[in-house]
Amino acid sequence: MKIAILSRNKNLYSTNRLFNAGTKRGHRIDVIDYLRCYINIGENQTAIYYDGKKLGRYDAVLPRIGASQTSYGTAIVRQFEMIGDFVINKSDAIKSSRDNFRSRAAYKLIEIIEKYKLLDGLEKALDIGSAPGSWSEVLKSRGKNLKKIVALDLLDMNPIRNVDVYKVDFLSDKCSKILAKYDKFDLIVSDISPNLSGNRSSDFLLSLELLENVVDFALKELKPGGNMVSKYFRSGDISEVILTCKKHFKKVTSFKPKSSRKESSEIYLVCLEKKSPID
Ligand SMILES: C[S@@+](CC[C@H](N)C(=O)[O-])C[C@H]1O[C@@H](n2cnc3c(N)ncnc32)[C@H](O)[C@@H]1O
Repeated sequence: MKIAILSRNKNLYSTNRLFNAGTKRGHRIDVIDYLRCYINIGENQTAIYYDGKKLGRYDAVLPRIGASQTSYGTAIVRQFEMIGDFVINKSDAIKSSRDNFRSRAAYKLIEIIEKYKLLDGLEKALDIGSAPGSWSEVLKSRGKNLKKIVALDLLDMNPIRNVDVYKVDFLSDKCSKILAKYDKFDLIVSDISPNLSGNRSSDFLLSLELLENVVDFALKELKPGGNMVSKYFRSGDISEVILTCKKHFKKVTSFKPKSSRKESSEIYLVCLEKKSPID
């Protein structure tokens, strides 16, 4: 096999051990200093260059990215993923372990927040289907002006400082009673998933029902001007839901973050600026 080890230095202990173990088994191992790589993004193809030369394809890529080079290093790892090389530790997993998020789902929300500037000037956010909690962690770490974050899930979720966590079905009366204690929210995010059976059409219907419920819920709990993000699965027609959202929000769009697996049909409905009754 042709294997690339992405490492700053061939003589680092762990790199050296991997190199020796691989060559002993008859593999061709290239140690590539990822800081000397750059990416050329073409119209149809992306290529990775190393010391000015285009790199060929590898059967496997083993990233050994230093903590101080996480950002550049993981950008290079991501390019290996994009061209289809088999990468042992995915770029998101490396970032997630460095950032200490509870799950890689964090990066989907980070992309959405950055693209739509969702946290600018926000004070109150609600995370539905929040466990294990990485979206709430993102809201907390990125939402500098957020004064209140509420997280709801059917499952237990470990506490996060200054986040009000409730183990509750968001559709239950118990949840309505809990939320009656709070003012309306500026942002509602939902990464909620039904229990998937693997049957495409019944899974789609379950997810459609959840999406409709999240939209209804958001229409009740959001302030005028507030924004909503909700996961859905694009394996069927959601045009009715979009129509409802267009009635109540100024802008409605769908977005698939790069950190969401290409093979997954999940996508996020983004509804911006809830209209007030006089709009
Ligand atoms: C994909 S996970 C969310 C991951 C989360 N965004 C994170 O970053 O850690 C989906 C969650 O939705 C929750 N869920 C499903 N139906 C729910 C409901 N009716 N009420 C509250 N939570 C629900 C599940 O328990 C599950 O924890």
